[in-house]
Order: sequence, then structure tokens, then C-alpha cells
Amino acid sequence: MVHIEVVRSCNSTLVKKQPLVAVFVGGTAGIGESSVRALAATHSVQGKGLRLYIVGRNADAAEKIISDCVRICPVGQFRFVPAEDLALLKDVDRVCAEIVRAEENENKYGETARLDILVMSQGYISFEPRRETKEGLDTLLSLRYYSRMRFIINLLPLLLASPLPAHVVSVFAAGREGKFYPEDLSLRDPEHYGVFINISHVAYMTTFFVETLATRHPGQLSLVHVYPGLVMTNEFQTGRFPLWFKMMWRWLVAPIVWPFSVPLRECGERILFLATPRFPAWQTTEVGIIAQEDDSASVEGNVAIAIGSDGNYGSGAYAVNWNGETIPTEKAYKRFREDGLAERVWDHTMKAFEDIEAGNVFTG
Ligand SMILES: NC(=O)c1ccc[n+]([C@@H]2O[C@H](COP(=O)([O-])OP(=O)(O)OC[C@H]3O[C@@H](n4cnc5c(N)ncnc54)[C@H](OP(=O)(O)O)[C@@H]3O)[C@@H](O)[C@H]2O)c1
Repeated sequence: MVHIEVVRSCNSTLVKKQPLVAVFVGGTAGIGESSVRALAATHSVQGKGLRLYIVGRNADAAEKIISDCVRICPVGQFRFVPAEDLALLKDVDRVCAEIVRAEENENKYGETARLDILVMSQGYISFEPRRETKEGLDTLLSLRYYSRMRFIINLLPLLLASPLPAHVVSVFAAGREGKFYPEDLSLRDPEHYGVFINISHVAYMTTFFVETLATRHPGQLSLVHVYPGLVMTNEFQTGRFPLWFKMMWRWLVAPIVWPFSVPLRECGERILFLATPRFPAWQTTEVGIIAQEDDSASVEGNVAIAIGSDGNYGSGAYAVNWNGETIPTEKAYKRFREDGLAERVWDHTMKAFEDIEAGNVFTG
């Protein structure tokens, strides 16, 4: 486990090194909000500069978060980018276009249009059956996977303009791989669909997609997907559950599991930590060292470089547990890698993007 004091020290070093531009999708509530607050508080008056975009639907929540952030980090710029429904790639594209426009506008003020940190936590929890969007994707798979990969692809030019290696973090369920249906990646067959299979598909597909991106952009892009642990957000109240479940959760389950949960504030700090040099881009010289084949390579504070999801140190794509430790995944992936699933997942995802962008309903 990476101790919370080490997390805080690495976060503090991060904000003191250079000005940062960050986007938090799902930053209006829960883990995303806590991560926004962690960055604003860490930066406070000591950081080198901060431009932060909060993407979400709840404008009132965004306004409150921004007014708190401005108070604790008066030099920071905080902007709300309203979303309508990020399960629709059309909405993702609109939001990304607004961020790109805002960043390009910064050029006028002598700033470089760029993005150093992208954190995505949009979504909700549910036991619902497959529910298709008008674009042909399952709503939950889209919020947890397709919409997030679309954010990365749309914002890639800004990410690649970061003087750091840019850091991308997707908050969901790394390491929760279970059943996987390579011939039905979209989970169209009702026999395949289920709560845990949906989670498993998101974990597998995210790993394959971000590994491909990491190797295509050596030295430039670090990508993490993380399981945040049990965090007592409003997710369990706002999720699509029957009333009986919400009542049972609130009055019976939550008081019992609460002591085992990750405190919300700590979770935000740990998410920010995923954007520090413990998780370097592939072949990076970010911290003046090259990742080695053993754990002797270390960054400031003696935090060892993390092992990537392919089993190699500093490989640029990471599956991380709530406590900052990486999750060994090689065994679950071995056969699928040999079968060329990484390429298949990439092609499937890009085809979905192409079809939907062309105005068609995706049927793959
Ligand atoms: N909390 C946990 O214990 C836990 C554990 C494992 C995994 N996770 C996963 O981690 C992620 C974040 O969880 P959380 O607890 O922070 O959830 P949360 O408190 O409910 O926050 C979810 C965020 O996603 C946004 N969102 C939801 N549906 C959206 C949609 N259709 N379009 C646009 N934005 C949408 C919400 O925006 P608005 O509020 O503005 O509508 C909010 O900002 C989720 O994917 C969750 O499943 C959570």
C-alpha cells in the first residue's frame, strides 16, 4: 500500500513543478468532485498555476464546487463545461469541442493549448438489464468505456501537447476481470449480459485500449484505470436501484461496511496521485530515469515506478487498486493477448466511433 503521506508528498511535488491544465469528467459529484477538490487544495497558493475544467450535468453542484475551489486556490481558473448525457458520443464530441475551443483561446494570452491531466469518473451503478442508447451502445458500457475512450481520442492533440507526459485516469473497476466474450464485445446477446460481465468487459477493453495508446505514444502518455475501493458517495442513492435496495443500503448495509470504505477525501488524493511520476509514460525520461526491470528504479520520495498491466515496469498503461498498488493481471490476459484481442478491441472501438460519427447506429 502506498502510504497516504507519500501520496500527499508526491501530489505536492506535482503542483510545484509546473502549471497544470486538468479536465475532470464527472467532476460534479463523488470521486470526481473529491479529486477536483484534492487538486485545488494541493495547489492552493503554492502551486505553479492551474486551469481546471469540470464536466458534468449538475450546474448547481459545479457552481458550489468552483466557489469553494476559488476560495482555497485563488490563483486557479475553474470552468464548468455542461454535459447532457455522456452515454451519447455526440455529447462527448460536443463537450470535447468546447474544451478544445477554450484551450485554443488560451493561445491569445501566451498560454499553450494543452491538457496535462484527464480524469474520468462519469457513470452510475445499477443492476439494470442492457439499455441501448440511440447510437446503438449499451448505456452503462458507454459511460464506463466507450465515452471515456472517445474523450481520450478527441483530446489526444491537447494531451500530446503537454510538456509532461500527460496523465489519463479512468475510475471504475480495474482488476475486476471475470467472464469475457470476445465475439460479443458490445454484449448484445441477452445471455451474456449481467452486472459483473459488464464490469468485466469494461476492465478488459479498457486495458487493451489504453495499452495500445501507451505504446503508440512513447514518452508522451501515461494511462491508468483504477478501482477506487468502496467509497461512500451518493452513487448508491442516485444509482438506478429499486427503492427497497436504496433503503436497505442506507439503513442496513452502509453502517456495517462504512468502516471498510475509503474516505472520500483520501480517495480524491489517491486519484490525483495517479498523475504523478510513479506511473510514467512508456520509455519516459519524465523523472530523469528510465524504468528498469526490477523495482530499484524510484522517483522522488522513493516511490518505485509502477508495474504496467503487461507486467513490465513503467510500461505506460496501469491497472491500479484503491491503495496505489498495481494489480497483477497477466494471467487473466495471457490467452486473450495470444488471440490478438488487443487489436480486435481497438478495431471494434474505432469502428463504433466511425459509425456513430457518421450518424449511423452502431451494430458491431
Ligand atoms: N463509489 C464507489 O464505491 C465506487 C466503487 C467502484 C467503482 N465506482 C465507479 O466510479 C465512478 C464514479 O463513482 P462515484 O461514486 O463518484 O459516482 P457519483 O458520485 O454518482 O458521480 C458520478 C458522476 O458521473 C456523472 N454522470 C453520471 N451519469 C452521467 C451521464 N449520463 N452523463 C454525464 N455525466 C454523468 C455525474 O454527473 P452529475 O452529478 O452532474 O449528473 C457525476 O459527476 C462510477 O463509474 C462508479 O460506478 C464507484
